[in-house]
Amino acid sequence: MDSLWIEGGRRLQGEVEVPASKNASLPLLCLSLLTAKPVRFRNLPGVSDIQSMRNLLGSLGVQELEPGLFSAEKLTSVKAGYDIVRKMRASILVLGPLVAREGRAEVSLPGGCAIGERPVDIHLTGLELLGAKIKLEGGYIFAEAKRLKGNHLPLHFPTVTGTINLMMAASLAEGETLISNAAREPEVVEMAEALRQMGVTLEGEGTSNIKIQGRSELNGLDWKIQCDRIQLITYLTAAAITGGDISCRSYRKGTIDAVVSKLREMGCAVTEIGDQVRVQSKLPLKPISIETGPFPEFPTDAQAQFMACLSLADPAAGLSRMRETIFENRFQHVSELGRMGAQIRLRGNLATIRGVPKLSGAAVMASDLRASASLVLAGLAAEGKTQVLRVYHLDRGYEQLEENLNRLGAKVWRAPQ
Ligand code: EPZ
Repeated sequence: MDSLWIEGGRRLQGEVEVPASKNASLPLLCLSLLTAKPVRFRNLPGVSDIQSMRNLLGSLGVQELEPGLFSAEKLTSVKAGYDIVRKMRASILVLGPLVAREGRAEVSLPGGCAIGERPVDIHLTGLELLGAKIKLEGGYIFAEAKRLKGNHLPLHFPTVTGTINLMMAASLAEGETLISNAAREPEVVEMAEALRQMGVTLEGEGTSNIKIQGRSELNGLDWKIQCDRIQLITYLTAAAITGGDISCRSYRKGTIDAVVSKLREMGCAVTEIGDQVRVQSKLPLKPISIETGPFPEFPTDAQAQFMACLSLADPAAGLSRMRETIFENRFQHVSELGRMGAQIRLRGNLATIRGVPKLSGAAVMASDLRASASLVLAGLAAEGKTQVLRVYHLDRGYEQLEENLNRLGAKVWRAPQ
């Protein structure tokens, strides 16, 4: 297993072209299951989760005719096995399309992951309301439906993948579906835009109520995926934590407003011009309080990165507080930051951070995708060398991170553990 090494204490500056979004790409790839026509993606990101999804779709009969061009004229299987699903829980996103297109699906229950239990009850209840028969047996979801019928689907939580799974299922259902308490994330909005290009009539994306008119079959798709807002945020926090000056392209206005206001509250100057956003940091950062929540609130996927920044906030200016409201176990980076000298106390879903004048480089263990990003950020600012072990977690969602950071003036390299 590889490690990432970082020699800290260097101020980062320059420009970054952020790759396409992993969390938009994963559901968009599943659209290939919904139609017999080809679907093309012009800029799929080169991260390992995307390769895993390609493998899963291939096992269902989706052919990749050339890089980025997918065709599922005929599906050859409706089974998503435990070996694939346990490694990537976003595999649950094949469930809705398979039931809608083939009338049946056999998908392993994803089980939890490092950050939480990750239930899928909302996905299943929604499919039942659309007329599917659902049975759970031997760790698998068995779903069957002659033809799904539109219905009102009230979600008890605005889950992103739950909303998207049900949008895809409803697109081939008979009649109208209303999803209420739907997720409002930019990835949901992009899914709606793609479905519209495939011929689906729908409205309300980006609000809590999405209305979808089902069709009997869908057109193809030719799509350019929006940039990865969480990778973008990670580069902005790299500027913040190193006292640097970084501009990122090309993002959609309005997709990171909650993060921009927190960067400004920490004392950074943030300017947005067109599809570029620039952070000019001023050290020491000010301590602030953050609470994560469903979009448009502060994204849980940026919580670990900001925790690294706040570990170095001005000790004389008071305490920072971080409350995590989405996942029950998303503070695993805290103990590792502590090994570098961070002063963070946990009580339930609240982390209280007392800023320290410096962090020291150390060997630290990545536990999940965003936690590993936070350890890299801490390493960029720490004195001395930091070794981030199990860097495969990072490779799930970050493309060319070390190349981009080195181009910004960092000293980062990969080596076998
Ligand atoms: C998406 O996960 C993202 N993943 C996550 O990013 C992101 O953190 C999350 O949205 C933000 O809400 C993808 O888009 C692939 P959930 P999602 O499991 O929608 C509850 C990353 O780092 N819930 O639905 O799959 C659940 O307990 C990843 O890129 C139910 O109760 O998140 C949790 O509290 C991590 N029942 C909340 O919803 C359900 O059926 C969100 O969890 C489903 C979810």
